[in-house]
Amino acid sequence: MQLVIDRIKEYKQQHNAIIAAHTYQPPEIQELADIVGDSFALAEQAAASGADTVIVCGVRFMAEGIKLLAPEKTVILAAPAAGCPMACRIDPERVARFRTENPDAAVVAYINTTAELKAEADVCVTSSSAVKIVSALPQRRILFIPDQHLGEYIWRQVPAKEIITWEGYCPVHHAVTAADLLAAKTAHPGALVAAHPECAAEVLALADFVGSTSGIIDYIGQRKEEIIVVTERGVVDLLNTRYPGRLHQLVPEKLTCPDMKLVTADTLLAVIGGAEGEIIELDPELAGRARASLIKMIALGT
Ligand code: 13P
Ligand code: SF4
Repeated sequence: MQLVIDRIKEYKQQHNAIIAAHTYQPPEIQELADIVGDSFALAEQAAASGADTVIVCGVRFMAEGIKLLAPEKTVILAAPAAGCPMACRIDPERVARFRTENPDAAVVAYINTTAELKAEADVCVTSSSAVKIVSALPQRRILFIPDQHLGEYIWRQVPAKEIITWEGYCPVHHAVTAADLLAAKTAHPGALVAAHPECAAEVLALADFVGSTSGIIDYIGQRKEEIIVVTERGVVDLLNTRYPGRLHQLVPEKLTCPDMKLVTADTLLAVIGGAEGEIIELDPELAGRARASLIKMIALGT
């Protein structure tokens, strides 16, 4: 590992580069990273950094998000095969058609979307800012893409709006059932439950706290109780050493995102050697429209 650390350090100095890793990345990758965070934190912090090159250890929409906010930087997706099955679940042409047929409705895109879908939206949201931003929009009817579970969660928080959802969902969080959680609650009586809003309503109904990746991390830090964590296992893998014996990862065999585990230390060595990785290029017209949705999100308060 020391060899990898030394080679990466040398590359970073030569290329004024940083590594940005999502919280769902394997712990060894998080340790090598300069920035670790959720989808928006990566984009915001990488864009604000003085780096010329950003190597992204995450999935494609995250690398696109950094390129949108910092078009002048070279953004390299470390594992080009790392996509998010939810981010491209909905055809952008269907969204464009919906807009034409429903001029009174706003289109709100979760940050977990491709640049093509962000370009069709009025505004983006993160799972932390979704309720606040949807509440602030003047339109009553909202098409929320692509996560039906997050869309339904927002609607329960803001019942005065009409939230229209389609068929998208995160296959990792969607796989969790209420039965999985009830079994864990029986095994760990008294433990609190923290869940990501990408989970189905039946699971969220059993949670003490619902929030984004960073929201769950903050919640864990604020409590003293044992906590059953209902999100991708990277969060618990990261925090287990900080809070030994206090966290219980729900169904790790389900809550493991295969796309997020594609980067290894060897991949990073191959990326800096030029044998792996993809430089993200976006069509300027499409990027302009997608960036406008992200900038509106920032203006409304991420
Ligand atoms: P956040 O990290 O923004 O909470 O999103 C969760 C997720 O599924 C990322 O792929
Ligand atoms: Fe996509 Fe879900 Fe994996 Fe996140 S955890 S990258 S939303 S499939």
